[in-house]
Amino acid sequence: MTEIAFLLNGTPLRLSDQPPTRTLLDYLRETAGLCGTKEGCNEGDCGACTVMVTDANGPKALNACILFLPQLHGKSVRTVEGIAGPQGELHPVQSEMITHHGSQCGFCTPGFIVSMATNHANGRTDHDTTLAGNLCRCTGYAPIIRAATAAESAPVPAWMTTDSEIPFAQISSGGEAAGRGGQTAPQNSSQKNFSALRPTTSDDLADWYLQNPDATLIAGATDVGLWVTKQLRDLPKPVFLGGITDLQQIERAGGQLHIGAGVTIAALREAIAPHHPSFAELLRRYASEQVRNAATIGGNIANGSPIGDGPPALISLGATLHLRRGDTLRAIPLEDFFLDYRKQDRQPGEFVAGISIPAQAPALRCYKITKRFDQDISAVCGCFNITLDAGRVTAARIAFGGMAGIPKRARAVETALLGQPLTPETLATARAAFASDFQPLSDMRASAAYRLTTAQNLLTRYVHDLSGAPVNVLELDA
Ligand SMILES: Cc1cc2nc3c(=O)[nH]c(=O)nc-3n(C[C@H](O)[C@H](O)[C@H](O)COP(=O)(O)OP(=O)(O)OC[C@H]3O[C@@H](n4cnc5c(N)ncnc54)[C@H](O)[C@@H]3O)c2cc1C
Ligand code: FES
Ligand code: FES
Repeated sequence: MTEIAFLLNGTPLRLSDQPPTRTLLDYLRETAGLCGTKEGCNEGDCGACTVMVTDANGPKALNACILFLPQLHGKSVRTVEGIAGPQGELHPVQSEMITHHGSQCGFCTPGFIVSMATNHANGRTDHDTTLAGNLCRCTGYAPIIRAATAAESAPVPAWMTTDSEIPFAQISSGGEAAGRGGQTAPQNSSQKNFSALRPTTSDDLADWYLQNPDATLIAGATDVGLWVTKQLRDLPKPVFLGGITDLQQIERAGGQLHIGAGVTIAALREAIAPHHPSFAELLRRYASEQVRNAATIGGNIANGSPIGDGPPALISLGATLHLRRGDTLRAIPLEDFFLDYRKQDRQPGEFVAGISIPAQAPALRCYKITKRFDQDISAVCGCFNITLDAGRVTAARIAFGGMAGIPKRARAVETALLGQPLTPETLATARAAFASDFQPLSDMRASAAYRLTTAQNLLTRYVHDLSGAPVNVLELDA
């Protein structure tokens, strides 16, 4: 057991008797008696459990069902019970939801209210995007979006700004002396010490992980959370990476962007938008606001999923993966990391430290094909990055998710394009080459035939896209 300190609706809490993989949702409903936060799916899909979590970077909406208590250390949590004022004054989003009839059965409403209040605090007005992770099955979204829009101009209530004014270091230290890793070792801990459970530097993590290669690394917990809530697994030696700020940096140097493994998908999307707008647009459709605020790019790579959205885009950019084991650093092309289905080139005690990508790639285009536009896992994700010189292809990097047991380059397609002009004949040859690169599976998301045909069509779409033809379904009129 470890000690965790955070603010809950403004009240300081220090918990020393909680299992490290207890979720915030279970704590709120079963221990704190705060049952306004609902349990819908318990896997990050529906947003009924949304809470507002504030740290030094400001307030964020997160799903409490896949948020472990140690991830809250040093932060401030506001549940739906903390959205109205101290005298019961309604928050502007609550008033507008009433005015615009934004609630029927009301099960989804607390989650919507917390998401809307968080977006209101952040001045966000892209409601279709920010509310895509909140599902409503009876009211329909139009009244809810109208309510969010109507609340935009209202000032942020004073009680909603207090969380950002709190000195966060004070919450976590509780005024006590901090050891290596910045935390105080708890008494009678089942872990070696508290800094081992929640290190604050990558040096600490490297030392500890080398000695404890059987540990479970937990970054955003958007995968690991489901191992606990759905698979009911006990996790050996969980270690939480969220306090390692040196893994959360994005730096530009020598024409490259160096991205730490702990950078969230939300932060990555914002940072790369001016460099790689198509990749940023892909990330807009990665899960939901709540999941993007938690999930890290390091977790998205390390989990080795064949349907993750990060790896195809990064491989097509020619990303270099940085791995660390103790004091040994290793850099490999990202595509070489994925060896076989769920088998990666990672040694015991080695972790993902970050990735490097070129800062510019004007011809990069990323296409995500899903059954539903928002908040859905890719059936096929195709990313294309070619260079043309005097009308001929001089370089090509094309990578796909959902087409094999790993995220994979389309090398035969690339070969068919290299040295050729982008004529209908070249396109026909390259389309045929997809069958050499990929023998996709049929599963619940798509059939093998659908996947192969779609991949071929995405190449055609890319060629149209490069020529300036409109290809975005959101920009086309029927
Ligand atoms: C509702 C929902 C929707 C989703 N939608 C999408 C989607 O649209 N597209 C998509 O790509 N993914 C999606 N995911 C999957 C998930 O968000 C990603 O895989 C995510 O990036 C994992 O990152 P994390 O920080 O949460 O990792 P965690 O869950 O913390 O960890 C995942 C794995 O990586 C390991 N790990 C984490 N960090 C490191 C590190 N630095 N070094 C070594 N190992 C590490 C962990 O031990 C674990 O094995 C979705 C998940 C949910 C719950
Ligand atoms: S209960 Fe559905 S997202 Fe948490
Ligand atoms: S009001 Fe019933 S699910 Fe939204």
